[in-house]
Amino acid sequence: MTEISHRPAVAIASPDAAPPYDAGDVRRLFDRMATSYDRMNVALSLGFATLWRRQLLRLVGATGSPRRVLDLMSGRGETWTEIERRLPQAEITAVDFSAQMMAHAETRSRARFGGRVRLRQEDALNGTAERASFDVVVSAYGLKTFDAPQLERLASEVARVLRPGGSFAFIDVTEPACRALRIAYLAYLRWIVPLAAVLLLSDPAEYRMLHRYLAGFGDGSRAVEAFRSQPGLHVEVRRLFFGCATSISGRRT
Ligand SMILES: C[S@@+](CC[C@H](N)C(=O)[O-])C[C@H]1O[C@@H](n2cnc3c(N)ncnc32)[C@H](O)[C@@H]1O
Repeated sequence: MTEISHRPAVAIASPDAAPPYDAGDVRRLFDRMATSYDRMNVALSLGFATLWRRQLLRLVGATGSPRRVLDLMSGRGETWTEIERRLPQAEITAVDFSAQMMAHAETRSRARFGGRVRLRQEDALNGTAERASFDVVVSAYGLKTFDAPQLERLASEVARVLRPGGSFAFIDVTEPACRALRIAYLAYLRWIVPLAAVLLLSDPAEYRMLHRYLAGFGDGSRAVEAFRSQPGLHVEVRRLFFGCATSISGRRT
């Protein structure tokens, strides 16, 4: 486990400051990105997005035979294959507030999962799940758009819906601590990703937002603090690929 540093979040990324959190803006952004999201995600992350999802699921793999799995900010269901690989008995419930992402998720559920995934189109911060109703909560790449109060709310929601002994794992892209790598990584997100979006027939403005949200999310320390502030959660933090992504995982005590 690597300890979190508290360096200021966006020394280098400041020219494109993060937008203030607005649920409607985020929902509309993902509604617009829904059609291109899958192919852009694989192509632009150079395969890392898939690799990190696999590593995410390893973090919840040692919990016996959990059945009820909550996938928060589930998008089009990109994490389900890994959930099933690690937890073949899983009953997956997926939550996302974007109608367009959910429409694609429904198609994926029917085509590849026999329609077994339960889909809930709702705000993860105001979820309808019952207290202690899940064995596992996972989430890939859904943290970076939240500000500090929303992160605290999300962490408290995770503590609420997990049964005692249940486990959770979140992952998102973060700014690496190494300055040279940080410059290269942010330049890639700021310039290359929007350019690639044009080449792949997507809207570069939408993919430029990735850089702006990462600017606000920094090294993820606010998210770590939010999870650690929950008395019912035991939290571990791991840096992946020199800090280009960070996982926050643990269990409900
Ligand atoms: C970057 S995508 C990640 C999708 C998927 N989990 C993956 O692994 O690629 C982030 C998703 O989070 C959803 N999202 C963001 N804020 C949300 C909220 N407050 N409640 C529910 N969904 C949210 C967006 O609609 C979007 O589909």
